[in-house]
Amino acid sequence: MALYQSGIDREIQAGARLTETVAWKRLAAHFDSVKSLHLRELFREDPGRFDELSFELEGMLVDLSKNRITARTVDLFVELAEAAGVREAAEAMFSGRKINWTEGRAVLHVALRDTSDDPVFVDGEDVMPKVRAVLEKMRRFSGAIRSGEWRGHTGRPIRTVVNIGIGGSDLGPVMMTEALRPYADEGPRVRFVSNIDGSDFYEKTRDLDPEETLFIIASKSFTTQETMTNARTARAWLLDPLRDEKAVARHFVALSTNRDLVTKFGIDPENMFEFWDWVGGRYSSWSAIGLPICCDVGFERFEELLRGAHVLDRHFRTAPLRRNLPVLLGMLGIWYNNFFGAESHAILPYDQYLHRFAAYFQQGDMESNGKSVDRDGRRVDYQTGPIVWGEPGTNGQHAFFQLLHQGTKLVPADFIGCIESHRPLGDHHEKLMANFFAQPEALMRGKTPEEARLDLEEAGLSPERIEELLPHKFFEGNRPTTTILLQKLTPYALGMLTALYEMKIFVQGVVWRINSFDQWGVELGKVLAGRILAEQKTLALGEEMDLSHHDSSTAGLMKCYARCRNKGRG
Ligand code: F6P
Repeated sequence: MALYQSGIDREIQAGARLTETVAWKRLAAHFDSVKSLHLRELFREDPGRFDELSFELEGMLVDLSKNRITARTVDLFVELAEAAGVREAAEAMFSGRKINWTEGRAVLHVALRDTSDDPVFVDGEDVMPKVRAVLEKMRRFSGAIRSGEWRGHTGRPIRTVVNIGIGGSDLGPVMMTEALRPYADEGPRVRFVSNIDGSDFYEKTRDLDPEETLFIIASKSFTTQETMTNARTARAWLLDPLRDEKAVARHFVALSTNRDLVTKFGIDPENMFEFWDWVGGRYSSWSAIGLPICCDVGFERFEELLRGAHVLDRHFRTAPLRRNLPVLLGMLGIWYNNFFGAESHAILPYDQYLHRFAAYFQQGDMESNGKSVDRDGRRVDYQTGPIVWGEPGTNGQHAFFQLLHQGTKLVPADFIGCIESHRPLGDHHEKLMANFFAQPEALMRGKTPEEARLDLEEAGLSPERIEELLPHKFFEGNRPTTTILLQKLTPYALGMLTALYEMKIFVQGVVWRINSFDQWGVELGKVLAGRILAEQKTLALGEEMDLSHHDSSTAGLMKCYARCRNKGRG
């Protein structure tokens, strides 16, 4: 049963492909007429361009004017978003309908940060009372950890909290605790172990005292190989010196949807913080998965984060599409991805505390929109999610910006900066922000051959040398960027910013007609790894084994590994 019916759905049912629908074709025709316009000219012709194409929401300024668009492009974005049913899809999500149709689940991370008094129903049940109950439990527990009231098995206070989780049960809390580091004024240190590589666990725990360490086992499914392996290692690490099973109750808590497996692992269900199947892993930082954030910066700050995200959700749900930030950002991404043929999207925060933001949205975006089958089960014949990447400025400038400025690829980029720094050392912030403004301007303007020639003449170079160097000194410009300027990186602002990107991903998934909320693509590798692990055990015993069901490369590598490993052991 269709969850909503858009104009585009109707056209597709009548036999059109997405790229043949009216709104798509109108945007395509417009693309042909604007694709060779240069941003330099657009700014020269229209002194009001910044005013027209920049938007403000609760202290967050989003400037779209350095994008290769005109006012007409925005009209056509809106037309396409409307025809694709972005509004209807958003309503289906907010009202708890099962828009994750391949898993038969609602998508309600928005309910976790819904600070209004409105009910939110899933299968006829208002989920808000249980959302609030878990938040209250998080408040009490993180308060007790931070104040030292919660004691370890031997009566010592907890000085380090180690979160064990991976993917959505790790990246969000890592990004957010890093972003909010200036607020981690008191309370325990918080660390994160995610990789199954034992070096991760070793390095994060080697200087810790088990008597003063609390492990948070964060796993929606409580079956993820990496997390469960690290959790078992953590148990042994704790019990080896403490030698009392009862210690587990004071040193382990779980964040999960799977009560049975949590109990089986030996964690007291009292120490379990629940969430639900309608919370997607990569959207779960707002749920119990946010517990390490609460331990780090305090529950009140976590609540501010939720409030910021809720404001953005409300904006997305109610603002006219023409001024709707997630819609505009989502459509811009489609513009570059599907019309200009851009393959990637860079996220470049000019704030060191946001240094994990791009990594977080690598999962957020690529696991959500890295799909190639549409709502009707057909393979798409257009591009979907981009490759998302990025590093904080100004470091990136000295690494990959060369390609952004003069490479052959078009890389649309978001620049994110803050007016106020948390660490206003000397003139660091002025210099950081000078770069923050300079780079998008340089990417947009470029440098004409005339300007380049003038520079070389002023440098006193010979005419021959000038001719030689000229092609290398020319910057074509016209490289699109979006600038997001926050007043300060507060929990509230971070909540807004994060929800902005989440909703942008949602919009794109709707237009591309894909399911942004499943992740079947990560399953195959997991299954094969399980099979190979069992085979490795046999090979390690030095036994001959038929590996012909593998390709010759995989079989050859496995045999080489077993041989060399056995040699190393012998
Ligand atoms: O690798 C895929 C994935 O399922 C992610 O979607 C998820 O965030 C991660 O694994 C961790 O899953 P869990 O929280 O169930 O351990």
